[in-house]
Amino acid sequence: MKQSKDIVNHFNIKQFQDDLISWFEQEQRILPWRENQDPYKVWVSEVMLQQTRVDTVIPYFNNFIQQFPSLESLANADEEKVLKAWEGLGYYSRVRNLQTAVKEVQEQYGGKVPDTAAEISKLKGVGPYTTGAVLSIAYGVPEPAVDGNVMRVLSRILSIWDDIAKPKTRKLFEDVVRLIIAKDNPSYFNQGLMELGAIVCTPTSPSCLLCPVREHCRAFHEGVQTELPVKSKKKSSKTVQLTAAVLTDEEGKVLIHKRPGKGLLANLWEFPNVEMAEGAGSEQEQFRAYVWTDYRVKVSLHEPFASIQHVFSHLVWNIQVYRGTLDSEIEETPIMKKVTFEELKDYAFPVSHQNILKAFKEAAFKG
Ligand code: ADE
Repeated sequence: MKQSKDIVNHFNIKQFQDDLISWFEQEQRILPWRENQDPYKVWVSEVMLQQTRVDTVIPYFNNFIQQFPSLESLANADEEKVLKAWEGLGYYSRVRNLQTAVKEVQEQYGGKVPDTAAEISKLKGVGPYTTGAVLSIAYGVPEPAVDGNVMRVLSRILSIWDDIAKPKTRKLFEDVVRLIIAKDNPSYFNQGLMELGAIVCTPTSPSCLLCPVREHCRAFHEGVQTELPVKSKKKSSKTVQLTAAVLTDEEGKVLIHKRPGKGLLANLWEFPNVEMAEGAGSEQEQFRAYVWTDYRVKVSLHEPFASIQHVFSHLVWNIQVYRGTLDSEIEETPIMKKVTFEELKDYAFPVSHQNILKAFKEAAFKG
């Protein structure tokens, strides 16, 4: 592995900074989190933008800031409402960590987001990327903010052939950025790299002819821009088979369950469901055994009305969904409720379970 110093040898750092920053000044998209440098808002936007596209984030960001306009309002908010505001964005641990972290800022720093890497990176869920993004954009501190897009852009410009799927490679890119970042405008430098990755230096067909830093790009000169970055394939994901049911009582209320506080989709609500095991009986039998063992409730399952697939980064769910009815009384608990269809909108559901509800309404046997 080459060292960062060798990589930037013969690279015209000053001219590169000027070309990148001038382009960003002229061409940056108007985005809601670019309206001001409030560290709290920058932080929220950067957390949302990890693993989620800009177009998807915009309405979520606007709604989130409307509901929680200040760090203090988020620190004091009801967790249920916070999850609801994140509903559909995925990777829900991001927002649970964010709320934990803003509480830490409230208690330890009097509500002011810290402006040093040592302090900010100790906060829950704040890794090197968020640290660098918030420090550079909100406070003008020259810290690297290296995500997958920035690695793609820099792997091409500097012809870096290390595998970006390896954690060690991200560190190499961070070292490289420390050497080339514009000390007088780290905010525009980092955002310029992000913007270039989003609108010019795209994964499969980069628009090199429109690129403001083409002259600096080693991959372009060698004609290898589409071979970079090098990224090894991750292991294929596991597939699980689930049986779920929309279970209603004689008043038309529906049974929902809150997922555990740890693990996948923690604390989100769902329709009762269970993972199918080989050779353990039919879907109906396994489902009925599950609700009896876990909730002491007897149910009848009627027809299946939907097959729903949800693809996570590491896992695929295939959910067979039944209509069903509750045949016995059920004692409600904080994690087990009967609610009206109208009330479902107050609970945060994962996208797969929102799709179950949609399919149920479309099948039109509600009530
Ligand atoms: N991706 C990550 N951070 C971003 C930002 N601040 N603007 C646009 N895209 C981004």
